[in-house]
Amino acid sequence: MQDYREFLDEVIISEEALQKRISELGAEISRDYLGRKLHMICILRGGILFLADLMRRISVPNTIDFMAVSSYGAGARRSTGQVRITLDLQEDIRSRDVLLVEDIVDSGFTIATVLEFLQTRHPSSLRVCTLLDKVERREIAVPIDYHGFVIPDKFVFGYGLDIDELYRNLPFIGTVNPAKYHPPE
Ligand code: IMP
Ligand code: MG
Repeated sequence: MQDYREFLDEVIISEEALQKRISELGAEISRDYLGRKLHMICILRGGILFLADLMRRISVPNTIDFMAVSSYGAGARRSTGQVRITLDLQEDIRSRDVLLVEDIVDSGFTIATVLEFLQTRHPSSLRVCTLLDKVERREIAVPIDYHGFVIPDKFVFGYGLDIDELYRNLPFIGTVNPAKYHPPE
């Protein structure tokens, strides 16, 4: 596996900046849901680091569940618009206050598909919290209630986001220099 320093173009969001913004988001969400129970749904796998840090900053009673979708073909770097649900929730969301927690909204196809799917199960409310928002790349309008950072149209990695399934564990968000990155064998 290549050392990330070989292809890192720039750290665009440091570990400190991520943690500071996540605690602000946690405080904001806690105020908005005061007196209610929050059910957070994380989309695997990219959202897990964000969920784990965000939930520690939330002071209202909360529960979590997971789902998975596949949007990219193998080796592809953008959504095709053909988003499939590959892992369903464990629990019923009817009449619950649901917050969808995502790592990044890019074209918007993933979130749009997931929202449509969740709406059919009649939650009492449904909101979206994404850590990163690539606004420039949006191809379908999606409602975003909470976002951490708006980022430029560059491929990013770290803090849950992968390149070919690797590098999710890095504590910061970096951009890739494609000329220097070599996919694993
Ligand atoms: P969308 O359906 O185009 O909005 O894409 C959303 C999904 O694509 C995210 O949940 C990520 O898994 C993935 N994705 C989009 N941009 C990036 C990136 O820059 N790095 C890593 N994954 C990304
Ligand atoms: Mg994702």
